[in-house]
Amino acid sequence: MGTNPFIDADAPPPPTRRYRLTLKNTGQVFEVDPGNLPEHQDGACGSVLTVLLANDIEIDHSCGGVVACSTCHVYVNQGFDTSPNPIEEEEDQLDFAPALRDVSRLACQFVPNGSVDVEVEIPIWNRNEVSEDH
Ligand code: FES
Repeated sequence: MGTNPFIDADAPPPPTRRYRLTLKNTGQVFEVDPGNLPEHQDGACGSVLTVLLANDIEIDHSCGGVVACSTCHVYVNQGFDTSPNPIEEEEDQLDFAPALRDVSRLACQFVPNGSVDVEVEIPIWNRNEVSEDH
C-alpha cells in the first residue's frame, strides 16, 4: 500500500459492511466484501480506487494513490457521507481538480464504510479509458 511520508494522518478505516459500488459511467456494479477487499498497491485499503482497479477500470492515478495529485478525482453521487471527511492534503489536491463539485473526492482516499450502497462517476475529462462500451 503506497503511503506519502509527508502525511501523518491515519488512513481511513476500511469498510465494515458489504455494499455495492456502482460506476455511473459504465453502469457496472461491484460487490465490496470487507472480508475480501481487493489488494492493490495504490490507494488506501478499501478505497474506491482499489475497487475500480481490481475490476480493470483504468482510472488515472498518477501519484500512485498517495494524495499527491488530483487525477483520481471522482464524483460520489451516492454514499458521499459514508467515508471520513477528506484530510487537508486531499482538499488541497482537489483545489487543482477541474470541474470540481460538492461531491468531489479523490478515489484513492474515499473509503466507504459500507452502510449504504455507493455510486461514483469519473469526470468527463478523466474518462480516457472508461466508456459506456465496457
Ligand atoms: Fe494521486 Fe489519488 S492517485 S491523489
